[in-house]
Amino acid sequence: MAVLRITKYGEDILRQKLKPVKYEEIAPRLPQLLADMEETCLAVRGVGLAANQIGLDLRLAVILLPNPEDDKLPPTRYVIINPVILAKRAEKMDEEGCLSLPGLWAEVPRATDITVRYTDENGKEQVKRARGLLAKAFQHEIDHLDGKLFIDLVDPKLKPEVKKIIKKLRPTWD
Ligand code: CO
Repeated sequence: MAVLRITKYGEDILRQKLKPVKYEEIAPRLPQLLADMEETCLAVRGVGLAANQIGLDLRLAVILLPNPEDDKLPPTRYVIINPVILAKRAEKMDEEGCLSLPGLWAEVPRATDITVRYTDENGKEQVKRARGLLAKAFQHEIDHLDGKLFIDLVDPKLKPEVKKIIKKLRPTWD
């Protein structure tokens, strides 16, 4: 396993709409890839990591949902391949951050209850209803696969402030 470098805001691949994954083609390298993504995400206490955040043009992401009872217990892992949001219900403003914009937090609107379809790490199609933090994580990671970042959702009035903060933070990124 390996901790990989995470791509940062300003790198082109974060703005790319990523290529659909052919499960059969990726299957042989999937266990290693997922182990590396999980280790990379855990190393920086992230909740999710999309493939372009480690420089790969693939529609897949890993979500590590913290245990709500005790964050010392292992998180629940969701591997989402070629995910599609089928339905969104309700919306809430909530604080969000991103491993590709370390140090920045901002309020953005997200649906609080969604239904998503994806292929899991075993190649099985799953349809899952998600609420709360998991719903937020699904939407955040699926946005990554479309080349979108959470700062795109920030209130336009607050965008100049966000730009200022990014300018300050940038020299601290690797
Ligand atoms: Co992110």
